[in-house]
Amino acid sequence: MAVDERSLGDISMLVPQPEENFFLPRDIIEHLERIERLSRKHPVNVLVAGKQGCGKSTLVRQFAARNGRPLATFQVGILSEPGQLFGDMRLKNGETYYQQFLFPQAIQTPGCVVHLEEINRPEHPKALNMLFSVLAEDRQVWTDELGLIKVAPGVVFFATLNEGEEFVGVEMLDAALRDRFYVTLMDYLPPEVEFEVLRRKTGVDEEGASAIVNIANQLRGNSQEPVMVSTRHTLMIAELVTMGASIREAFVYSLQVSRDILESTLLSMHLEMGYTKGDDGRTYLPY
Ligand SMILES: Nc1ncnc2c1ncn2[C@@H]1O[C@H](COP(=O)(O)OP(=O)(O)OP(=O)(O)O)[C@@H](O)[C@H]1O
Ligand SMILES: [Mg+2]
Repeated sequence: MAVDERSLGDISMLVPQPEENFFLPRDIIEHLERIERLSRKHPVNVLVAGKQGCGKSTLVRQFAARNGRPLATFQVGILSEPGQLFGDMRLKNGETYYQQFLFPQAIQTPGCVVHLEEINRPEHPKALNMLFSVLAEDRQVWTDELGLIKVAPGVVFFATLNEGEEFVGVEMLDAALRDRFYVTLMDYLPPEVEFEVLRRKTGVDEEGASAIVNIANQLRGNSQEPVMVSTRHTLMIAELVTMGASIREAFVYSLQVSRDILESTLLSMHLEMGYTKGDDGRTYLPY
């Protein structure tokens, strides 16, 4: 099947603008700094896994921004054939010709950050075959149409992988593929940091931010039916609150969550409005 190249992702290959108020644990920041240094010796592969909306794509963008690197993002989740990232056959005036895509150009651009989104969900298992070669030690791939393509010095491949109920996790990823990556696991922010992010990014007041974070964490931790409330969602909820919505309304209009669960969560919140401080022992810093 032919795909419109633009549907494969953001292929502008520009150095992205840094995002303010993006927080990561100190150890992940230090790890990314080591990856940056390591990539000067040879191309490096990093797999970032975590739940939906926990900041994976932002981490990749921020890595590119901070290090002044061009970024190219490709949606692996929609690939159905091995060669599809490289190009496809087109028809013009009754003649067929090969149209090269930007993936070969991105991997041949020194220092480029190549982001492979949803690496765990290609439409066809064999779609990743040609990727294996560029991720492997020899860092080159042969294509009939383009000849030998070599990965340029300093290229960093970031693959992101969604983990959660309907997604397969890192352990389910093809062993040969997983074997080629450093792995970074991300999670939602601890409450006091998410509170800070909501405050800074949306301007929601302290009371609102604290209630949103508290309810979100109750829903995430719901023992009968945990609800995935992403950081993307808590930001959306906070924005509605800054537009005058009540906390209840903001949750109702943002999440697909059963009324029962929401009501019982709000009720328990009402009973113990206390603000629990989750502590994972890590220090979080703006990255
Ligand atoms: N640690 C964080 N600090 C600040 N903002 C965050 C953080 N994590 C996520 N966000 C914000 O939440 C939104 C979603 O983040 P992002 O798109 O990076 O998540 P993702 O994990 O790639 O999502 P998906 O699983 O849907 O691909 C963005 O607006 C991002 O800025
Ligand atoms: Mg993403």
